[in-house]
Amino acid sequence: MTPAEEDRKILVTYYSRTGVTRKAAERMAELLRESSGVNVTLEEISDTKKRAGVSGWLSGGRDAGLRRKTTIDRPDTDPSEFDLVVVGSPVWAFTMCPAIRTFLEDCSGSLRNAAFFCTLRGSGASQTLSDMQEVSGVRALATLSLIDRNVRKESRQDYQEPVEGFVGNMLGGMARGGTPGTDGEAGSSVSG
Ligand SMILES: Cc1cc2nc3c(=O)[nH]c(=O)nc-3n(C[C@H](O)[C@H](O)[C@H](O)COP(=O)(O)O)c2cc1C
Repeated sequence: MTPAEEDRKILVTYYSRTGVTRKAAERMAELLRESSGVNVTLEEISDTKKRAGVSGWLSGGRDAGLRRKTTIDRPDTDPSEFDLVVVGSPVWAFTMCPAIRTFLEDCSGSLRNAAFFCTLRGSGASQTLSDMQEVSGVRALATLSLIDRNVRKESRQDYQEPVEGFVGNMLGGMARGGTPGTDGEAGSSVSG
């Protein structure tokens, strides 16, 4: 049975090393709260491995490229209890970062509905979004990629509108009972 709209729970969760993915995730949570009246939880995932500085950048790129998991720190909530889980990752070495790979592998097969987004400098979006679906075992209701500089400058055309479209698509997918829309990649501002 589909829960009444006010009983629905959405988790927005993300990893962010320099704040870009966090900023987009916070905006999505805000829009979801405004537009749907559902119960929205926003959670950050941390990587216990040091990712700051040049050494962190290098080890991060290497670990991501080798599809390595890491040890994550996140609140003690159970993602499988949410009607929809929105997951955001920065693109590292043309795929998701290790913290998000770890999260998605850990809940593989248990998510009811998911929407995935990534932020990046310029290349690797399609691969990342496809890897996120493969690792989680979920076909996303909506996907989105955002270029980091467009998020930072809050571009109307290349950040605000795509984010609004992404949120609309995931809510539409939920209203259809968990069927992805025909335009899977909502308002994507990049290919690659
Ligand atoms: C280790 C590392 C690897 C990266 N690899 C890529 C890449 O393959 N393609 C790309 O477009 N951007 C790449 N980037 C840039 C980030 O994806 C981009 O700046 C992202 O928006 C940062 O998000 P955050 O501020 O939430 O950490 C990389 C950044 C880091 C730290």
